[in-house]
Amino acid sequence: MTALTQTFRKAAFVTFAILATACTSAAEAASYVMFRDPGCGCCYEWAEHVRAQMEAEVIMREDVPMEQVKATHGIPDDLVSCHTMEVEGYVIEGHVPAKDIERLLRERPEGVKGLAVAGMPLGSPGMEMGGRIQPYQVIAFGDFRMREFSSYR
Ligand code: CU
Ligand code: CU
Repeated sequence: MTALTQTFRKAAFVTFAILATACTSAAEAASYVMFRDPGCGCCYEWAEHVRAQMEAEVIMREDVPMEQVKATHGIPDDLVSCHTMEVEGYVIEGHVPAKDIERLLRERPEGVKGLAVAGMPLGSPGMEMGGRIQPYQVIAFGDFRMREFSSYR
């Protein structure tokens, strides 16, 4: 074996070791942090939806003023809703369906910082009210500003 191959093998092994460690910690960190206003209740319903659908643990934080949460997470003004959640480096704003979050984590589209459902449309997860439905869009935001990710009606 030449010195070069040896170096290459060593580098490959180190890379593999790092990837393996990264995977392990990602699996352990399957807990998501949701920031909410203590005066709002629909966040609980939505968190329950995420817990059930994604088999994730949702940690709730009420210690940061929501304006500050929106600012530090870079939520575009037009997309603001009640709660904000951190999911594996992404930002999820408002009542986004779990299946869209799963798709985001699977596809990891370039330049996307997060997903949002603006406002609080009736019929979105956590906003069920006697079968009433308001059509709504899930918007992806990031460097490209905003684009539709999915829509429900
Ligand atoms: Cu809400
Ligand atoms: Cu809420």
